[in-house]
Amino acid sequence: MSVGPGDDRAGLYVHVPFCDRACPYCDFDFEVGRGPGFEGRVDAWLAGLERELGRRAAELAGSVFDTLYIGGGTPSAIPIGRMRALLGWLGDALGVEPGELRELTVELNPEHASPARLDALVELGVDRVSVGVQSLSPAGLRQLGRGHERADALASVAACVTHGLRTSADLIVGWPGQTSAQLGRELAELTDAGVEHLSIYGLTIEPDTPWPKLVRRGLRVLPDDDAQAELLCWAERELVDRGFVHYEVASYARPGAEAVHNGKYWRWLDVIGLGPSAASVRHRRSEGSGSGSGSGVVERWVNPRGLAAWLEPDAPSEHERLEGTQAAAEGLWLGLRRLQGIEVGRFLDRFGVDLAWLDARVARQVELGNLRWSAERAQLGVAPGRWLWHDTIAVDLLAPR
Ligand SMILES: C[S@@+](CC[C@H](N)C(=O)[O-])C[C@H]1O[C@@H](n2cnc3c(N)ncnc32)[C@H](O)[C@@H]1O
Ligand code: SF4
Repeated sequence: MSVGPGDDRAGLYVHVPFCDRACPYCDFDFEVGRGPGFEGRVDAWLAGLERELGRRAAELAGSVFDTLYIGGGTPSAIPIGRMRALLGWLGDALGVEPGELRELTVELNPEHASPARLDALVELGVDRVSVGVQSLSPAGLRQLGRGHERADALASVAACVTHGLRTSADLIVGWPGQTSAQLGRELAELTDAGVEHLSIYGLTIEPDTPWPKLVRRGLRVLPDDDAQAELLCWAERELVDRGFVHYEVASYARPGAEAVHNGKYWRWLDVIGLGPSAASVRHRRSEGSGSGSGSGVVERWVNPRGLAAWLEPDAPSEHERLEGTQAAAEGLWLGLRRLQGIEVGRFLDRFGVDLAWLDARVARQVELGNLRWSAERAQLGVAPGRWLWHDTIAVDLLAPR
């Protein structure tokens, strides 16, 4: 395994399966940490990561990485000494100082942004943080069951920026009762505080979370889809007015500040995931027969969910292999998450399909005005204003024909 700059390098993702508390909307893979035995569980997770990397050494031998993303769960919930151990050990395995990577992002919850932690992250080579602000409104933070206050969120963003960290903020939009005036103020406050990137998600009610039960007990209401769509469009207008580029369905950046690691998923580059529930994706070409150059192959593995299941010595990963037009349909909807769209020539070359196949596959969505060819059909993208329907467009593109 090695590391270096380049436009086609792979990314490495490490999943931290601990949180201080459980937010009632969240279906990510985490267990509530702290309390007795917490540090022992963190050490078991670190040892598990070393074993996983050792087990997958042959598979990873040819990979060249230039980004590392430490996500969760809550990476900032683990003691800084353990983060130091993780980065030191990953650096040895990658044969590089973490600071030499093109991008090293750590997800950070606002209540964890102490000066000591930020100093340590900078010293360890972290250059980017993704702060889980979610809302700056006291009502929003209460509904979302967050462990921080509005002032913590603003102070954490300011502290990250002052530490020279490239700072992204996550916001959840469409919690019941939220208004566009509130949202507009929050976006102004965050951009004034110096975030260079925002990820904006519509609140999704996941069935296996406490939210549906809270609804039944009258303690929460369900979000209204139309109100949520209006707020998402409002956010786009506000951010574009403030000089941000809406470059991916849920992502906004100052020009040049797009997330490099996340971009790998949409640009059909390999991402290797380590840790509980982490997903890995690899792209390659099948052998062509005769004079053919083969078709694209997408392979995906998802690690077992839950620390205990993942630590089992022979825990099987879920494996999926897509080839031919199935791989192409997958690459198509993922590539269309980028609002600049796909470069048609690169797509055809990558997945071994022809223009007639692509034309037929997208015809219905083009006719509906959801997708649009441009640059004399060298580019295909979601039509302006239709990004809200990306999920629906994707269902159609992926439907068996
Ligand atoms: C891995 S999660 C959490 C990162 C970090 N632990 C935090 O809470 O700030 C990444 C992001 O997914 C988003 N998210 C999680 N569950 C969601 C849901 N049900 N609906 C919308 N967004 C959600 C949140 O914005 C969150 O920051
Ligand atoms: S939103 Fe973040 S802190 Fe809350 S439960 Fe999910 S991963 Fe943990």
